[in-house]
Amino acid sequence: MDKVELSKGIHWVGAIDWNLSNFHGYLTQRGSTYNAYLIQDEKTVLIDTVKANMFDEMWARVKELVDPKKIDIVVSNHVEMDHSGALPMVMERIPHAKVITSSNGEKGLKRHFKKDFNFQVVKSGDGISIGKRTLKFFNTPMVHWPDNMVTYCPEEKILFSNDAFGQHIATTTRYDDENSWDILREEAGKYYANIVLPYSDQVQTALGALGGLDIKLIAPSHGIMWRGMIPRILGEYKKWCTNETVPNKVLIVYDTMWSSTERMAMALREGLLDAGADVVVRNLKHRHISDIMTDVLTSRMIVLGCPTLNNGMLPTMGAFLTYIKGLRPKRRIGFAFGSYGWGGQSVGEMEEVMKGLGWELPIEGIKLKFIPDDEELVSVRATGKKLGETLKTGK
Ligand code: FEO
Repeated sequence: MDKVELSKGIHWVGAIDWNLSNFHGYLTQRGSTYNAYLIQDEKTVLIDTVKANMFDEMWARVKELVDPKKIDIVVSNHVEMDHSGALPMVMERIPHAKVITSSNGEKGLKRHFKKDFNFQVVKSGDGISIGKRTLKFFNTPMVHWPDNMVTYCPEEKILFSNDAFGQHIATTTRYDDENSWDILREEAGKYYANIVLPYSDQVQTALGALGGLDIKLIAPSHGIMWRGMIPRILGEYKKWCTNETVPNKVLIVYDTMWSSTERMAMALREGLLDAGADVVVRNLKHRHISDIMTDVLTSRMIVLGCPTLNNGMLPTMGAFLTYIKGLRPKRRIGFAFGSYGWGGQSVGEMEEVMKGLGWELPIEGIKLKFIPDDEELVSVRATGKKLGETLKTGK
């Protein structure tokens, strides 16, 4: 098998999931990887494992490098099954090995596997010597679960960052500089928007805590490793975790029954363009909510359109808003619109969700009965222009 040596005696031993297309509801059109790492020093250490069904691939990589019985320590940075799923199989083969994890990690692993491995619980800032090298552990709770921690090797300046800085991409290459920044940025952004966004405050804390570390390689648990683009990805994370958006970017997300709401969407788009905004339009029937989240991440204004069905929103918009309520993007400007036949409740319902997220709603939503006429569409376009102008004034 291909050997990927990060530094002398440190190898990537993960698995490439070329066929992954859906990660608990998040579309992963480019597949993914589960990254595990083997450090051979006086002690032999396995950092994280892989999804259970990919154990064989990881274990074959390990066996090419070392007799697995020589593994002294398994570091479990995160309980979620994409990284710990293969842990029981590993521990069946090397029951003597210590499992180093956080306190919440121990609790979570026990709940998942009902096994009492040879745990060593570490606190944030603790370190161990493994020979010529040291491993230091830092808790990063909620990036992505309460148990998360990262592992840092100061002698090598390598940060094993687990979910942080990950991307769902299956590639034969393992490093950032062997790939296009645009694709990496898009996938790292999609990952952040769909997985990490609700924990942005904790990301800020984690970035602060890790800020003092000298890092030459970030080795996450998904996708490629960062070595040539570290300042770029850190710069993006700093923006994403503070909800910094592109000031003139507007995202219109809508669904439509008989094209009336779609006509309103197009008129709003024209008006927003009149005001100089950069507009992205997504129809919920044709775009998946996890793909739309990539645009939410960078959009200053979110414009939601939905007709009224049975006194409420269409299920597609309901699902999108349930998703976005959980992911909690902040510091956005919102606006709602939609056609209706008699009730017209959808606009108010969308506004309520946006208010609940703390977004500004500078202009009252528009609802139009049945089919908009030309005059109404001119007025909708004018509202779009007014909305676009609020981007310039920040109101
Ligand atoms: Fe990649 Fe939270 O697991």
